[in-house]
Amino acid sequence: MCGIVGYIGPREAYPIVLKGLKRLEYRGYDSSGVALMNGQLQVYKKKGKVAELEETLVGKDLHSHIGIGHTRWATHGEPNDRNAHPHLSQSGDIAMIHNGIIENYAQIKQELLAKGYTFKSDTDTEVLLNFIEDIQKNNHGTLEEAVRIALRRIVGAYCILLIHKDDPETIIAARKGSPLVIGIGKGEHFLASDASPIIEYTKEVVYVNDYEIAIVRPDELILKNLGNEKQTPFITKLDMELAAIEKGGYDHFMLKEIFEQPTTIYDSLRGRLDAETGSITLTGIEKYAEQIMNANRIMIVACGTSWHAGLVAEYIIEELCRIPVEVEYASEFRYRNPIIHKGDVIIAISQSGETADTLVAIENSKEKGAIILGIVNAVGSSIARTSHAGAYTHSGPEIGVASTKAFTGQLAVLIMTALYLGYKKGTLDRDKYLSLCKDLAAVPDKVATILQLDDQIKALAEKYKDATDCLFLGRGYNFPVALEGALKLKEISYIHAEGYPAAEMKHGPIALVDENLPVVFVATKDSFHEKVVSNMQEIKARKGKVIAVITEGDTITPTLADDVIIIPPADEIIAPMLSVIPMQLLAYHIGVAKGYDVDKPRNLAKSVTVE
Ligand code: M6R
Repeated sequence: MCGIVGYIGPREAYPIVLKGLKRLEYRGYDSSGVALMNGQLQVYKKKGKVAELEETLVGKDLHSHIGIGHTRWATHGEPNDRNAHPHLSQSGDIAMIHNGIIENYAQIKQELLAKGYTFKSDTDTEVLLNFIEDIQKNNHGTLEEAVRIALRRIVGAYCILLIHKDDPETIIAARKGSPLVIGIGKGEHFLASDASPIIEYTKEVVYVNDYEIAIVRPDELILKNLGNEKQTPFITKLDMELAAIEKGGYDHFMLKEIFEQPTTIYDSLRGRLDAETGSITLTGIEKYAEQIMNANRIMIVACGTSWHAGLVAEYIIEELCRIPVEVEYASEFRYRNPIIHKGDVIIAISQSGETADTLVAIENSKEKGAIILGIVNAVGSSIARTSHAGAYTHSGPEIGVASTKAFTGQLAVLIMTALYLGYKKGTLDRDKYLSLCKDLAAVPDKVATILQLDDQIKALAEKYKDATDCLFLGRGYNFPVALEGALKLKEISYIHAEGYPAAEMKHGPIALVDENLPVVFVATKDSFHEKVVSNMQEIKARKGKVIAVITEGDTITPTLADDVIIIPPADEIIAPMLSVIPMQLLAYHIGVAKGYDVDKPRNLAKSVTVE
């Protein structure tokens, strides 16, 4: 949550910081601001999206070779100009931006109030900033020292960037729990929450670790730990192209990302799955294969869409590998003192690799001796680095707040993992294994076929866009797809939507059904199909409107449903990778038809780095 950008070097800082903020806006868009230095320290900030800040700055002298900028997802204090970052310290000498939450801010604030400090905002950030300034004043030391001392007392998560009016040649940065990447240019440095604001300037980056402080000058990058010991910066080469983070002619990132799926799924499978010879190569996972196969159970932790991918994986791993699987919301798992034994296997699934709850859940489990496998999209992210092993999904940057291509990438990797383990363990026979490998390899082409239904789904969106509620039902492997369909719809169209196992509907939700309630059935041909059709009858008997996602060749369902979306056949284990595509398109078109900004839905942020 919150996007952070910084620049120091010979170029004009403002355009670089502004462009970076636009790239990071997916992380939060309640307000934004920049701090620049040209003789004096200037701070400009504004409620609303980055474009609104940009508008207010037209015509101003923004000349500066150092700059920091922030786009906010509000935690402490409502989104307004006052609470927007950067914040200025009491003296006005230091400007700071912050991504994260300072949990012990209230106590520190009390201490500062007692010393006569006053606060202009409701934020925890301003408290940390004045705490740093107070330490610097009392110690007569450097800003770097004050930051180090202050951070030793801080409980919570932070990525902070600070600049001081007397030192236009230095940005001080630090992180714990919230991401920070530093791009290394020639006589210049770029700082950001992820690599997207950096890639057009340099491909050489350093991912700053927790509890590290960076002292960043045009020609120098010094990393230290909180004990003031120098750390060696580990330079990584970015494997990302600029085109991957641009809209490329689509109206929205979400639509671009939905349409990219034939390619991104192929990229997830590439070099790993050879359907002809029946070979699966997952280097990270192979190292731990014996331990996973012999594990008493596997626990999957994730949030949101990634949690839905975990639920699909539960069904698949149990079926193919006969290992018990539990899927947990990371936010619950981390606080409920779960029983974890040495050698237990935890799979963490995350697109961003920065989700705070998932990260802490695996850190806690790692301390107890669990083996952590990360199924992560963002390369070099915190969850990827914390995991013992795992596999990247290779879906490319996902910018739309609603997760789409990440889900199918996660399923691709999870299915390959289950196939690999099941076959190796002997719980999956060779014929079935080979046939599933072939089916998986065929997914990119089948997704391309489903995407041709875009116009039909857009028309359905027009028909149903005024619904106030919507139910999504599925069984078996398609139950998590129903949950995912409901999540997609509610987050970008603000229509109240619920996902349920189709049969569970009789235990309560059926009371909602009348002629105004659209009910989306994920009803592809599988071993549960006849049961799902019976559930559909129950909805029709109560005059609900049925929209059904069905398999080619199904002649029964069209006679029951009000609308059908027909997709190509696939084994039931693979089917969720196909049946989710109409869910994504339906939600997208309803959101657009209602006039909403689907890439930046209200109250949301892409990367949830606060708990
Ligand atoms: O980056 P992660 O996969 O860890 O994110 C998890 C959730 O925050 C994310 O899936 C969220 O639910 C999306 N907005 C869903 O579209």
